[in-house]
Amino acid sequence: MLWVLLLLLLFPFLLYIAAPQIRKMLSSGVCTSTVQLPGKVAVVTGANTGIGKETAKELAGRGARVYLACRDVQKAELVAREIQMMTGNQQVLVRKLDLADTKSIRAFAKRFLEEEKHLHILINNAGVMMCPYSKTADGFEMHIGVNHLGHFLLTHLLLEKLKESAPSRVVNVSSLAHHLGRIHFHNLQGEKFYHSGLAYCHSKLANILFTQELARRLKASGSGVTVYSVHPGTVSSELVRHSALMRWIWWLFSFLIKTPHQGAQTSLYCALTEGLEVLSGNHFSDCQVAWVSAQARNETVARRLWDVSCDLLGIPVD
Ligand SMILES: NC(=O)c1ccc[n+]([C@@H]2O[C@H](COP(=O)([O-])OP(=O)(O)OC[C@H]3O[C@@H](n4cnc5c(N)ncnc54)[C@H](OP(=O)(O)O)[C@@H]3O)[C@@H](O)[C@H]2O)c1
Repeated sequence: MLWVLLLLLLFPFLLYIAAPQIRKMLSSGVCTSTVQLPGKVAVVTGANTGIGKETAKELAGRGARVYLACRDVQKAELVAREIQMMTGNQQVLVRKLDLADTKSIRAFAKRFLEEEKHLHILINNAGVMMCPYSKTADGFEMHIGVNHLGHFLLTHLLLEKLKESAPSRVVNVSSLAHHLGRIHFHNLQGEKFYHSGLAYCHSKLANILFTQELARRLKASGSGVTVYSVHPGTVSSELVRHSALMRWIWWLFSFLIKTPHQGAQTSLYCALTEGLEVLSGNHFSDCQVAWVSAQARNETVARRLWDVSCDLLGIPVD
């Protein structure tokens, strides 16, 4: 009994001692690619903070021209200046992109296509989690609208440029949370039933289904464009801003969870690692192929989600 009591009392101390090791274990997966990117062009959505910022910084550090595609332009300008100073690369550019508004997405794509000849790396990173029920400018539920439909439209609009620039890559930042997601086609916009946590999970499942269907189509056309979905890990960021409970949990375990720099490693691995083309369509975590849920492997659901997304966005279904 005394031993148990002693162990309980010592537990916080032991945890404190073991924390660096546990954190290292949980943060395994480092992008070791030495690929440099002079002359290459990259777009990173949601690059003004968190994982996106770190991803953009690393791409800029390797010499790419990097577009920070962000809804908060002022915040993004500060980040662009910070990255320019840290990397010495002046080619870090800010462009307005609000994924909750298809007009903004189309305007971003139009300007980008007018000013750039190439696009080699598209990182669909931006995301929202656990928002109270709300809708995008086009009336889509916020999670599916921003996390899935917004990136679906953006990728569609930039796809020809990616093909012209091949070999090129698309990285869709999904989540382990997709395991709890389900695509309910009769309730895609949460109109019949809504739970903010589940809405996030559904949208992250949609990211993986989109990745697989896009990879299948690109492979069939021999385009030279490859696509990957990733789980970045559990990362200290602003993602939990909408949930007091999640903010508290994140704070409590902050000494164990990944830093944004560590969280960016798998996106970078998928964007940069040579010879990864054969694994197009796969899901990655900690810089290796990761297991996905049964529904995430369902090709019928992936095809149907593709068609429904085209329909909602006014894209001709092929
Ligand atoms: N953090 C984690 O533990 C974790 C785990 C699994 C997956 N992920 C995924 O990782 C990705 C990056 O998240 P993070 O952790 O870095 O979160 P974060 O710090 O909250 O960053 C999210 C980024 O998305 C942007 N964004 C949100 N709504 C947008 C919109 N309508 N249009 C354009 N940009 C928008 C935000 O811009 P503002 O600054 O203007 O809001 C911000 O730049 C997300 O897709 C997330 O689902 C994160």
